[in-house]
Amino acid sequence: MSAMLKIAGLGVSYGGLHALADVSLDVADGEFVTIVGPNGAGKTTLLKAISGAVRVESGHIEFRGRDVGALSPARRAALGIAHVPEGRRVFPSLTVLDNLELGSYRAAARPRRAESLEAVLALFPVLRSRAKQLAGSLSGGEQQMLALGRGLMAQPDLLLLDEPSQGLGPRIVEQIFETIAEIRRRRRLTILLVEQRVVEALELADRGYVLETGRVVLAGGRGALLADPRVQGAYLGA
Ligand SMILES: Nc1ncnc2c1ncn2[C@@H]1O[C@H](COP(=O)(O)OP(=O)(O)OP(=O)(O)O)[C@@H](O)[C@H]1O
Ligand SMILES: [Mg+2]
Repeated sequence: MSAMLKIAGLGVSYGGLHALADVSLDVADGEFVTIVGPNGAGKTTLLKAISGAVRVESGHIEFRGRDVGALSPARRAALGIAHVPEGRRVFPSLTVLDNLELGSYRAAARPRRAESLEAVLALFPVLRSRAKQLAGSLSGGEQQMLALGRGLMAQPDLLLLDEPSQGLGPRIVEQIFETIAEIRRRRRLTILLVEQRVVEALELADRGYVLETGRVVLAGGRGALLADPRVQGAYLGA
């Protein structure tokens, strides 16, 4: 498999404080990779660096063989990178449908807009029944589904998911993770998921990286990471 995303020696700092230091990772075409780690590890910063929301201090970000590090967020989105940010940010005073439609701004996604919308509504039936409702009046779980759905409306090649489980109860988290697995089964999509729910995320993904205080401390396949004593000691309470 060829690398869709290749990151080498990435460094990001906020006012002199290093949030990411020398991070290298890659995601192959069609792969599902997760980055797990505790609060403040730099997970959100990593996704922001990939989508262009924060400035990179050092290192390279290549998407499909092209150095995208200097491109605007809009250019990167146009190339096929969709970022579903942390905290399920939707436009609260727009309807569910309008929020979804905004996801298909990407020129490449526009011709298949109706088809994408149908696919998203089939994936999240609750959004269909609430299509005319204002997004701000949805429950937290429904807003997360809407944020995910909007990301899919861009028909991305690479989907960046920032902690879709954040602040949600266990049942809804399970449902959202199941839907992510379903998205993966239905269409060929490369996914990079960052999560604090280490076990659940590793169980979903093909491969993972453990990020701690801005550095990759461990990397490997799903089975190897789940069985690793360091992962078990730190995150599984073993
Ligand atoms: N805009 C900012 N200005 C200054 N410091 C920041 C900013 N954003 C993040 N940081 C700091 O960078 C570090 C990494 O933050 P980041 O949000 O990437 O972590 P995270 O792994 O996503 O954490 P969480 O699991 O809590 O979402 C933290 O120490 C955080 O305080
Ligand atoms: Mg975060």
